[in-house]
Amino acid sequence: MGGSSGVSFVPGLEGVVAARTRISGVAGEAGVLTLAGFPVEELAGRATFEEVVYLLRHDGLPDAGELAAFRTALAGRRELPAATMNLLRASAARGVPGMDALRMAADTLSLDAPEDPALDLVARLPVIVAAYHRLLSGEELVPPDRDLGHAANYLYMLRGETPGEGSVRALETYLNTVCDHGMNASTFAARVIVATRSDLVSAIVGAVGALKGPLHGGAPGPALDVVFEIGSAENAEPVLREKLRRGERLMGFGHRIYRVRDPRADVLAAAAERLYATDADGDLYDLALEVEETALRLLAEHRPGRNLQTNVEFYTALLLHGLDLPTELFTPTFAVGRVAGWTAHCLEQQAEDRLIRPQSEYVGAEDRCWAPPEGRLSPRLWGAPPQ
Ligand code: COA
Repeated sequence: MGGSSGVSFVPGLEGVVAARTRISGVAGEAGVLTLAGFPVEELAGRATFEEVVYLLRHDGLPDAGELAAFRTALAGRRELPAATMNLLRASAARGVPGMDALRMAADTLSLDAPEDPALDLVARLPVIVAAYHRLLSGEELVPPDRDLGHAANYLYMLRGETPGEGSVRALETYLNTVCDHGMNASTFAARVIVATRSDLVSAIVGAVGALKGPLHGGAPGPALDVVFEIGSAENAEPVLREKLRRGERLMGFGHRIYRVRDPRADVLAAAAERLYATDADGDLYDLALEVEETALRLLAEHRPGRNLQTNVEFYTALLLHGLDLPTELFTPTFAVGRVAGWTAHCLEQQAEDRLIRPQSEYVGAEDRCWAPPEGRLSPRLWGAPPQ
């Protein structure tokens, strides 16, 4: 029965190519991430986030005039509908986690029937996250500032003061680094939704729901916890050895796709080095380097030949912590960056206009016959009792 389609089941769709995209490419064996033609190392530390959003959407960087117009268009869409703010207030009063509040608030953006929903979603996700953070912390709301760039405005709304250039550059590097990453789970979810000719708000709400899961967007917090647990350089080896002895995984190391060092880790490591040299606690940065070096040495002993390397989460944690973002903001901030990729993928999928409809393999029972409830042997049997 199951084999009737002639196609075999691939658990988790691992290795299955589900789309053709010009938005990003991940070469796991070589450790290369390409963002619309640019190696991540070339782009992330230099471009503004607005340039990257434009690039993913239009497959080319804007010239100065186009960039200024795009920046103004994004900044002009930051105001949230009153109903969105009411929902955020009600969520904060109940202590709803940030990703749930973000998902519900993103849904209310349909109220405005936006002309360009992709742009609205990119513009407003950080506004929702920042406003919600302040509501949850019982702090006064900070209205968006149109004169600030996208990343600077996010930090401004979170902190209540205009951020320095170093912090803005660090955040932009992070947002650019995580803006897209091949056919990851949330991007796939968004493409499936929009492929039914549903709308972009629905697709992004689905993507936020997918990103919330700990197997996708949730690892940087625990990676930082280990650095704090270690506390000082001499504890790195005993603490990490003990974790491996207990069969625990070291958070921030290893990757399903990359079989060499995750290229995003290097970009974020360089950004963290710059940030911690000027704007953050240099001792923590030194300790993190010590933890990384020790972890890599012990992992090489623990799984020789597997080449377990630092992944994006390790330096994400360090960088976002250096920006004074509490761990509960790590996954919502990931969404603020990834929405650039989600929306670009949705537009690409809309242009392709092909329903995504895979098959399943039926492995259930066969040839059951219906019987009235009183004639069933067990309430757990949905058919006739066996003869
Ligand atoms: N610490 C200790 N051991 C690890 C490890 C880690 N971080 N990552 C992998 N291993 C071990 C596995 O336990 C496995 O050993 P086993 O064969 O005895 O079970 C072996 O190395 C090979 O694992 P692999 O197939 O490479 O891992 P995976 O593809 O199943 O998992 C991750 C990939 C990312 C889930 C895994 O590396 C992990 O759990 N890392 C820590 C969590 C993390 O940082 N997640 C964020 C990813 S961006």
